[in-house]
Amino acid sequence: MSTLQYIEQNKDRFLSELFDILRIPSISADSAYAGDVRKCAEAVADHLRKAGADNVVLEETAGYPIVYGEKILDASLPTVLVYGHYDVQPSVPNELWDTPPFEPTVRDGKIYARGACDDKGQVFMHVKAFETMMQTQTLACNIKFMIEGEEEVGSNNLGTYCRNNKEKLAADVILISDTALIANDCPSIDVGLRGLSYVEVEVTGPRIDLHSGVYGGAVANPINALCTMIASLHDENRHITIPGFYDKVAEVSAADREAMGKIPFSEEEYKQHLAIDAVMGEKGFTTIERTGIRPTLDVNGIWGGYIGEGAKTVLPSKAYAKISMRLVPNQISDEITELFQKHFESIAPAGVKVKVTPHHGGEPVLTPTDSIAYKAAAAAMKETFGVDPIPTRGGGSIPIVALFEKELQTKTVLMGFGLDSDAIHSPNEHYGIFNYYKGIETIPMFFKHFAALNQ
Ligand code: BES
Ligand code: MN
Ligand code: MN
Repeated sequence: MSTLQYIEQNKDRFLSELFDILRIPSISADSAYAGDVRKCAEAVADHLRKAGADNVVLEETAGYPIVYGEKILDASLPTVLVYGHYDVQPSVPNELWDTPPFEPTVRDGKIYARGACDDKGQVFMHVKAFETMMQTQTLACNIKFMIEGEEEVGSNNLGTYCRNNKEKLAADVILISDTALIANDCPSIDVGLRGLSYVEVEVTGPRIDLHSGVYGGAVANPINALCTMIASLHDENRHITIPGFYDKVAEVSAADREAMGKIPFSEEEYKQHLAIDAVMGEKGFTTIERTGIRPTLDVNGIWGGYIGEGAKTVLPSKAYAKISMRLVPNQISDEITELFQKHFESIAPAGVKVKVTPHHGGEPVLTPTDSIAYKAAAAAMKETFGVDPIPTRGGGSIPIVALFEKELQTKTVLMGFGLDSDAIHSPNEHYGIFNYYKGIETIPMFFKHFAALNQ
């Protein structure tokens, strides 16, 4: 039986099994869900075992377990290490979901659930593609699975695990489906990801909250101060004003920028989809460039003072913000965090104190397009989509990709099947059923081409 026939015969079960995984609220950021995160790891391990993987174990870490499994056919065959994550972002605010985040529901050909696209749907494509290859005796490479449960909180324990298990994890390529296509009729492969610096800032004014009439106008208000400081981090051209911030930014060649200009993109549709009347960003760059090849700075959350019902006249003692910076080659996360810290402390107005606390970060990456692995992924997509995929740059971050290179000396192929419009991390996250099955069809083709090209 061909892989396509097997997939066709089992497609309903493939979907219902994914739904079982999506029902588990494996939110790694919120310790209230610790039991569910572990339960999800066990469910993924069970599915790997049933699909035919050997030596399936939950690898314990200082945090959540890593699901490992493998099928080693023959030492002479190339080995593919599949990485993904079974943890998800928090679903809050739950009231903004049209259907509950952990009750997967199909509407308009899309699966709505937290993690449907990022990354349970895409991880499960690999499990089902593996089952398909096992059942149709078409698995052409050795395969190892490493599915972690802490990606959404910075993969803090994965680096150590990789360092301590170099031999076990040895592979010719790391294959990840955790990114997006340009469109369902315009496949693409991400050949770069941005890095990340993430900081929390605390601005302290007076010792206690004060009456905003009695003291207002005479005492620095930390929220006012924080807003002024944040506003000053961009100039009128939306350049970031932190001294040294751009020093290491790699200039992208005119030829590469020209190629990016040819990527199909409708600014009208983009604005309409987001319900915005204008795009905004760094002067001199297109929207695709702004999210692909340029570094950015965004406030992710800001709080302080009175936010309860009605009005309370208060000059707050403290103000806070969480700020992310997306980095591009060759910026270095720790360096950027330090530049931010120095600069932010230096612009604090008199009357407030500033504290900057670094969170997790990650390095930007570029993946090669002249490798056997890239060629295999491109050939696989050509076969199932009917057109050649376009190499693109992903705006998000998967910090572990740079670590894989460093610790395992192994390059990655980012063969993702989501869409930017899938609302990952947002309410009503979804994943196209088309995309789910297309992934399950394409992955076996990757293995076929990767084995053949390695001959
Ligand atoms: N799958 C995403 C990353 C992604 C999304 C890359 C779309 C390219 C296109 C991943 O799960 C993610 O959300 N990563 C975090 C970083 C992490 C350190 C929290 C991110 O990008 O914010
Ligand atoms: Mn992800
Ligand atoms: Mn994510």
